[in-house]
Amino acid sequence: MKKNIILMGPPGAGKGTLAKQLKDELHLVHISTGDMFRDAIQAQTELGKLAQKYINDGHLVPDEVTIGLVKERLSQPDCEAGFLLDGFPRTTAQAEALEKISREISREIDVAINLDCDHQELVRRISGRRVCKNCGAPYHIESMKPKQDGVCDLCGGPLYQRKDDNEEALKVRLEHYDSETKPLLEFYSKRGLLESFNSLLGKEQLFDEVSSFLKK
Ligand code: AP5
Repeated sequence: MKKNIILMGPPGAGKGTLAKQLKDELHLVHISTGDMFRDAIQAQTELGKLAQKYINDGHLVPDEVTIGLVKERLSQPDCEAGFLLDGFPRTTAQAEALEKISREISREIDVAINLDCDHQELVRRISGRRVCKNCGAPYHIESMKPKQDGVCDLCGGPLYQRKDDNEEALKVRLEHYDSETKPLLEFYSKRGLLESFNSLLGKEQLFDEVSSFLKK
């Protein structure tokens, strides 16, 4: 089984949704840098105050901050069981740092899963996304509705729209993806680690295909 996993793809491709399904099925630790930053913003820690300046407008948090955060998290004992990195790495500097860190702590990457999705669908997903304030579960106002309007099926928490899920910030996020993150597909392909899946398949079919692949 592959247990040290990177999930890649543009904003809205479904990385968070898939990670939440896979972590329960495969008993892996879900490490989402976006969630870590949003938690820090909510708690108004020093990290949160810094991250807020970048995230709300769709910009990337500086590499040195993000790399330090991930290094600390990956070194914790629970990651021995395996981990899903969601939203990291996003730049070449982050990918190179991850290579070094994972070698140092003997937790080398087994695979980089890339989720392909077209631009029109990304815009539809991001503009209709709602997220649970308590547990972070993602919903969509048309295609993944909660049973009760505005309430999380899993924990009963209130659903909200992320501050960076607006047209202007999404444009910036997609530009960062194209210029800084997309080149990493080549980075992992050259190392024989890249595996791409079509995220247009829909939540359950995508999960079945990816989990079967990871269990091999
Ligand atoms: P982050 O939280 O990582 O955001 P993102 O990469 O833009 O990805 P999203 O969370 O928007 O989308 P997703 O792919 O997880 O899709 P989801 O599953 O929710 O990062 C936020 C910000 O933090 C960044 O912009 C940056 O500022 C900062 N940051 C984070 N990491 C960083 C790093 N490494 N370096 C620097 N800065 C960093 O799904 C989206 C919608 O689609 C939902 O409504 C869902 O219900 C629906 N959906 C999902 N899957 C499917 C499917 N298969 N079929 C149909 N609908 C689906």
